[in-house]
Amino acid sequence: MDRLIELDKKHFIHPTSSIQQQQLEGPKAIMKSGDGIYLTDTNDNKYIDAMSSLWNVNVGHGRKELAATAAKQMESLAFSSAFSSFSHEPAIKLAEKIAQLSPKSMNAVFFTSGGSESNDTAFKLVRHYWKIQGKPEKRKIISLKRGYHGVAAGATSATGIADFWKMAGHLMQDFYHVKSPYKLSAKESLLSLRQVIQEEGAETIAAFIAEPVQGAGGVLIPPQDYFIEIRKLCDEFGILFIADEVITGFGRTGKMFGLEHWNVLPDVMTFAKGVSSGYIPLGGVVISDHIHDTMKKKSEGVLFHGFTYSGHPTAAAVGLKNIEIIERENLVENARVMGEKLYQGFLDLKHKVKIVSEVRTLGLLGAIELAKNPITHERFSPTSNVTSKVIETLHERGVICRGVTYGGTDIICFSPPLIMTEEQMNSLLERLHDALQAVQKGLLT
Ligand SMILES: Cc1ncc(COP(=O)(O)O)c(C=O)c1O
Repeated sequence: MDRLIELDKKHFIHPTSSIQQQQLEGPKAIMKSGDGIYLTDTNDNKYIDAMSSLWNVNVGHGRKELAATAAKQMESLAFSSAFSSFSHEPAIKLAEKIAQLSPKSMNAVFFTSGGSESNDTAFKLVRHYWKIQGKPEKRKIISLKRGYHGVAAGATSATGIADFWKMAGHLMQDFYHVKSPYKLSAKESLLSLRQVIQEEGAETIAAFIAEPVQGAGGVLIPPQDYFIEIRKLCDEFGILFIADEVITGFGRTGKMFGLEHWNVLPDVMTFAKGVSSGYIPLGGVVISDHIHDTMKKKSEGVLFHGFTYSGHPTAAAVGLKNIEIIERENLVENARVMGEKLYQGFLDLKHKVKIVSEVRTLGLLGAIELAKNPITHERFSPTSNVTSKVIETLHERGVICRGVTYGGTDIICFSPPLIMTEEQMNSLLERLHDALQAVQKGLLT
């Protein structure tokens, strides 16, 4: 064990981590196995994985069926190229399946290995679309503050959490952020978008991208008509709308895709995470028939965009089986039903624990906000570290979830596997109640 810790510190640069903290403290937990909603570490501590790891293990851990599917595919055709005119059955079938699940007017899929690649692909595809329409100057991408779209070049710049792009310099050219509706009215956010469109000129703007629910920003659920108005605004100015369904796709919110809650159609939809429940890296971009038809007519020569692993046969086979499990076990409906239960449990917490100032859920995406004064929403001072105390106390009680403190917030996020049972939900809520009471007591004494 000690040896693993030393090797970790010496050789393993962790994604989105503090290098200095790692050197001081080493890894917090070294996981060795997963089963259902649980993870077990090398000290045999068992945790409820209340984040589905990175919002992605939708069908839960330890599915032998997915391992068997990968093994079978690897034995027959582990990999072969999908570049140029080569193809293979798993990618063809997964593309067909995703087209079936997507809105009726979206039927063509470009595969990637994750969310960042999907969003960068979407930005290039929309720019290509405008270019072949004779409008190469339509290049700008607008996104929301507090939005998270990944860490590839374009995705980093579209991300509305400045720490991500400041880490290596500054924002790339042609990316703009507008106000999120978080703590504002839909009207103010829409006005901010309209202003940027008018200032920059619609003739220079390719697309607007947003997550149906802003995940990493703190599970920020938009006001009811927000995306209906966004769609209207995009249409008014001839701007494409990209829905980043990387977290919200494949059942997470109690619908197959997040935008279904408001019956809004995007022009482009990006996905990853839940498509393979994290069993294998996989993602992609679905485009509207209109964009596809335009490309069929006007995209001459080679489309110079492709990852070695676009349409990876083993990833595609696992993705297909994962979707089969989601459908067979009715996990989208379970997310809706258990999401209600999570919400009721959160409301109960809000009544019982003073420091809980706000709660929200959409399916199995949920968050609680902490405040010193739940009525005035006066925040804790940053030095009180209340969010990390809650995360730490939950960890001690065998629950893994995520804290969000960007921009002075104290938000605890939840995104448990879609297989949660009522009993497991009760256990999660009990531990949460217990942890919050303990932190509250510590703050008051
Ligand atoms: C909404 C959203 N988009 C994109 C990404 C980036 O995906 P990946 O980390 O697979 O590149 C994430 C990752 O958390 C995400 O939450």
